[in-house]
Amino acid sequence: MTQNDMPSICDYEGSNYRTDFWEGRGRDYEDRVERVAIRRLLPKSGKRLLEIGSAFGRLTNEYAGYEQVILLDYSFSQLQYAQEHYGRDKRFIYVAANAYQLPLKAGVCDGATIIRVLHHMQDVPKIFAEVRRILAPNGTFLLEFANKRHIKAMVRYALRRQDWNPYDLTPVEFVELNFDFHPRYIAQELQKVGFSTKKRLPVSFFRLGALKKLPTNLLVGLDATLQHTPFFYTPSIFTLNIANSSGENALSANTPESLFRCPETGEDLVREGDTMVARKSSLRYAIRDGIYDFKAPIE
Ligand SMILES: C[S@@+](CC[C@H](N)C(=O)[O-])C[C@H]1O[C@@H](n2cnc3c(N)ncnc32)[C@H](O)[C@@H]1O
Repeated sequence: MTQNDMPSICDYEGSNYRTDFWEGRGRDYEDRVERVAIRRLLPKSGKRLLEIGSAFGRLTNEYAGYEQVILLDYSFSQLQYAQEHYGRDKRFIYVAANAYQLPLKAGVCDGATIIRVLHHMQDVPKIFAEVRRILAPNGTFLLEFANKRHIKAMVRYALRRQDWNPYDLTPVEFVELNFDFHPRYIAQELQKVGFSTKKRLPVSFFRLGALKKLPTNLLVGLDATLQHTPFFYTPSIFTLNIANSSGENALSANTPESLFRCPETGEDLVREGDTMVARKSSLRYAIRDGIYDFKAPIE
């Protein structure tokens, strides 16, 4: 694939996502109910989990039961912050890369998460295919997506205050590189690449300014209870998906050479000093400040 037919990326490089969106921004409720859903869905332990779009690592501490966590994000600066927080411990591998072209070999992970990231994805089938490729047989994929068939959209559509149809299966791009998805579309696309959805939870029932004035503990408790209902009209839906039993199991990979591949050509890589090199194509990727940088080859 050439860079030209690559979908566009919502670039967070240099953004203050952590302080502009989370810390002190009145989103404790959202943060806490997402953690409730993760704890309910994700297996408690595993070998290696890939966190796609980890950003600064808000949720990485939820994956404590995994022997290794790969924090992958397109933004180098978000990963730098994550590294300041989680350290250069061997348990954490920091990878700057495009999720559409994962620099990982097939079957090297038994877990993957995408939370608050799919809404930036122009090409969902491509992302799902990549996630399936890097998962070992029967691996776990925890996916959160923004739901287009949520109650607010349904009401607005009924009152003709919104032109897009929340019941239509096509993803809607309501702001550039921000998409909402129909639950059935997500289910279909997951199935096409070899996942079966085992569980779904509706999350964030009270994401409305007026309701959020109520005590956070009360809202979190109510949300946690309502997550057990089949009311899939919330703005956010969490799904637990299991990969089928085909493909490679490469979970024993324990060196950069056995874990990574060239994102552009799929070739094996060898480590040379502070670079990873694809010998045939001569493409070379930097390891900077303990972060594998696969965003683009160096000259
Ligand atoms: C809204 S943040 C979510 C961060 C985190 N998952 C959380 O819930 O706090 C979205 C992240 O996805 C990353 N991202 C968007 N498109 C990407 C792509 N194509 N490849 C890798 N990361 C991407 C952005 O850099 C950003 O850090």
